Amino acid sequence: MTAEPLEIHLEERDLDRSLRDDVRAGLTADPKWLPPKWFYDARGSELFEEITRLPEYYPTRAERAALGRHASRIAAVTGAKTLIELGSGSSEKTRLLLDALSGQGTLGTFVPLDVSVSALRQSTAAIAADYPHLRVRGIVGDFTRHLDRLPAGGRRLVAFLGGTIGNLLPAERATFLAATRAALEAGDWLLLGTDLVKDPGIIVPAYDDAAGVTTEFNRNVLRVINRELGADFVPDDFRHVAVWDAEREWIEMRLRAQRPMRVRVLDLTVDFAEGEELRTEVSAKFRPEGVATELAAAGFTAEELWTDPDGLFGLTLARAI
Ligand code: AVJ
Repeated sequence: MTAEPLEIHLEERDLDRSLRDDVRAGLTADPKWLPPKWFYDARGSELFEEITRLPEYYPTRAERAALGRHASRIAAVTGAKTLIELGSGSSEKTRLLLDALSGQGTLGTFVPLDVSVSALRQSTAAIAADYPHLRVRGIVGDFTRHLDRLPAGGRRLVAFLGGTIGNLLPAERATFLAATRAALEAGDWLLLGTDLVKDPGIIVPAYDDAAGVTTEFNRNVLRVINRELGADFVPDDFRHVAVWDAEREWIEMRLRAQRPMRVRVLDLTVDFAEGEELRTEVSAKFRPEGVATELAAAGFTAEELWTDPDGLFGLTLARAI
């Protein structure tokens, strides 16, 4: 079967408006920041896929290992008829879930949701071709805004993988989890992938690889703003910085101005002092107790937490109560 046409909940002008709002808010703040969702144009999505194959970037491999070990149990426990994936990207690891759920014969529909049209086009076409019995309904949307548009009914499992929840700040996580719960009915399931707190000597290189792919990924947000808003950032004059915040247990990516710079964007003139940093991403790492507590506050019970054999990455299966 071919995938159904993408359902577009994020129109071009809608995207443009939220990019403008974010750029205005972030670049006039002190310290300056930008939200990480703007990395993911076609090139940014490709760079991210390249990151997932780097020797230093353990989360993707670790999550795949955890899914490989536990997918059949997830399928048996949830008996899901509909699998909804938030921030689905390429949906590569999700195939482990699709295989297990298809194998037991319950799954009928797969609903990937992502902000990246290019990533969704590719993933829905590939999955529809490889899983001909499935209805594949791709949704172009933002998981912080469009959870009320998810299909209703029929034993749903929402998967939020890759540790993407770590890109939200704590207050945003609480809002996101509450909205996810509100989109579900009691008895529905959430499978949440979280990167775990560990030695920063392992975390930092994952966000600052020797080949420099993460540097290009980080700079890509400036290229997106140049193209979409006609800004005049010189991306190569910003250095990639990855910093572990031991207190908040998150890693930050920043772009550090290598010389004083003046950037024009929208109706703004944005000045950077030499050495000034722009925060482009927070990627929080979790402890199992913390995950369970945040889920409980949103109306879920964490029923199982699994990890890969090395204990690097966590998968929590939670039930809406
Ligand atoms: C997309 C959330 C999985 O935070 O690890 C990779 C993005 N940033 N390298 C993460 C990312 C820098 C990533 N996730």
